[in-house]
Amino acid sequence: MKLTLKIWRQKNSNDKGGIQTYPIDNVSEHMSFLEMMDVLNEQLITQGTDPIAFDHDCREGICGMCSMYINGEAHGPDRGVTTCQLHMRKFKDGDTIYIEPFRAKGFPVIKDLVVDRTAFDRIQHAGGFVSVNTSGNTQDANAIPIPKDDADKAFDAATCIGCGACVASCKNASAMLFVSAKVSQFSLLPQGKVEAKRRVLNMVEQMDKEGFGNCTNTGACEVECPKGISLENIARMNREYLKASLASD
Ligand code: SF4
Ligand code: FES
Repeated sequence: MKLTLKIWRQKNSNDKGGIQTYPIDNVSEHMSFLEMMDVLNEQLITQGTDPIAFDHDCREGICGMCSMYINGEAHGPDRGVTTCQLHMRKFKDGDTIYIEPFRAKGFPVIKDLVVDRTAFDRIQHAGGFVSVNTSGNTQDANAIPIPKDDADKAFDAATCIGCGACVASCKNASAMLFVSAKVSQFSLLPQGKVEAKRRVLNMVEQMDKEGFGNCTNTGACEVECPKGISLENIARMNREYLKASLASD
């Protein structure tokens, strides 16, 4: 395939940045999107041009690092996949593809397609954990009965990989799908009850501090989420938040 790539280039966080055009040919439909970007970068390096900076790590849809906005969609035109799992067979010979970074106030651009997502780490640090009694009397987690439905829902919430596509897809740059997944994976389980109140209050407070917007129920996040995290989690987080706000210490 022959393609025309229109890619966002930005030297650093202070640079204004802009779209530049790169023609590329001999793209195999079997390549992943990132492999196609690797080929382009090899060409740029050979020409003595600065290669395009983009994030990646596992290339298996696990780590949540790859974060491109492709033709106006987070992780591109496929559903239920990350950019690293997107294949070039989703495109046609002669296509023009626009590639931009995830855009949100909470995700400042570092360089080209790389954004700073440490805001998510800070939200996690604010409450995305459970305390464990390590005194020697710790109960085996497998010995605690948990209703199957709750275990399944907690597991589904725990599949969030923190990629940030929900934020990038949302017109308000809301991080509520991400935060609600992190709250839900614990709130559904007995192990998560101990810090339940602190967790939701602190994580929501940190989310607001980081400059993410509010949810207005457009549902774009759920559509673009590569892990199919459900909006049901946002409703659960809102209930948890209300309960925690009203509870007295
Ligand atoms: S909720 Fe989905 S889109 Fe948002 S960070 Fe988690 S996996 Fe990515
Ligand atoms: S590189 Fe790890 S999810 Fe894409």
